[in-house]
Amino acid sequence: MAANAKVAEASLKAGAAAKGLIYGAASQHKILSSNAEFARRFLEECAILVPENELKWEAVRPSPDRFDFTKGDWLAQFARKHGLLFRGTPLLWYQAIPDWFRETVNRQNAEQFLTNHIETVVKHYAGQIHSWDVVNEGIHLPDRQPDGLRKTPWLKFLGEDYIDLAFRVAAQADPQAILVYNDYDIDYDTREQEAKRKSVLKLLERLKAKKTPIHAIGLQAHLSAAETRFNPNKLRKFLGDVASMGLKVLVTEMDVADRGLPFDYTIRDRRVAQVYEEYLSVILDEPATIAVLTWGLSDRYTWLSQHRARADNAKVRPLPLDRDLKPKLAWHGIASAFESRSST
Ligand code: G3I
Repeated sequence: MAANAKVAEASLKAGAAAKGLIYGAASQHKILSSNAEFARRFLEECAILVPENELKWEAVRPSPDRFDFTKGDWLAQFARKHGLLFRGTPLLWYQAIPDWFRETVNRQNAEQFLTNHIETVVKHYAGQIHSWDVVNEGIHLPDRQPDGLRKTPWLKFLGEDYIDLAFRVAAQADPQAILVYNDYDIDYDTREQEAKRKSVLKLLERLKAKKTPIHAIGLQAHLSAAETRFNPNKLRKFLGDVASMGLKVLVTEMDVADRGLPFDYTIRDRRVAQVYEEYLSVILDEPATIAVLTWGLSDRYTWLSQHRARADNAKVRPLPLDRDLKPKLAWHGIASAFESRSST
């Protein structure tokens, strides 16, 4: 890590910016508004903020005819006040759907609900948003639908064109925002993920053929430190194919779960850092890559504590900063990947 003595003085946002990239993270209203020390560290490290949950349907649509932007607005204002970029996620996702949705949305009114939702939310933040995840996780091969599409209410009621429609409505509501198709499990060299990469590419090709206003792909990059089936060349090829369609690439939700690694956290930290560096080096080799976001900044606040808890009950360590907000080896792995990017 001696080579990193220089970057250790700086921040991830500075390391990214030096190579024409944006680094940032997801966080939540309840964290940034209540933990001043965390907010300070967030501003030191990040150039872009994404609300982890506050712009989801569940959060902004308490009832069919009411929108509640209170928490999203607080975060947008936090970003504005401190000179951070702000990104939005997700406009359409099959999860985090409010209870009223299934009783209310049907074949007759689905198009109106989709259009109205996207128009209202995107217009509300128009001019303030760097990028929107318009459709999140739209491919799921196990659902066995044509073209590998995920079985969502939108697909059921509107057919595949719901994707094109969502992008068109978003583009009209905020012509400046970068519009993103975002998905997970397209990172590793497994049969399932190879098949998913193919389906995603085909979807992007169909959208480009229709002249859908889509500008980028988002790779969530929820990685696992215990997984070794990583093939840089296959990922590179995928990114090249995406870029050749004129699309940009963002890493939108990166973290490296340490479930399955030994209890000893020094071993875990080394492996997690290695995964960050290896993965990002490949991603950053692609000139179309414009941003890297982690899904959280500190191990103190991560969805993985609940969703990928360790069998030995040790606290998970998937993010760049530890629970005391100090940089871990993962921080250095990311910084080092930024530093190695050839200047564009
Ligand atoms: O806000 C309520 C709180 O009032 C209540 O007391 C508490 C009790 O469980 O729940 C709180 O809501 C939780 C919410 O996070 C806010 O913390 C939900 O239960 C919980 O399901 C929700 O989980 C989020 C999950 O998406 C589902 O929306 C995670 O924080 C968030 O990290 C995760 O993020 C997703 C991305 O949006 C899409 N990609 C995958 C990623 C990880 O699953």
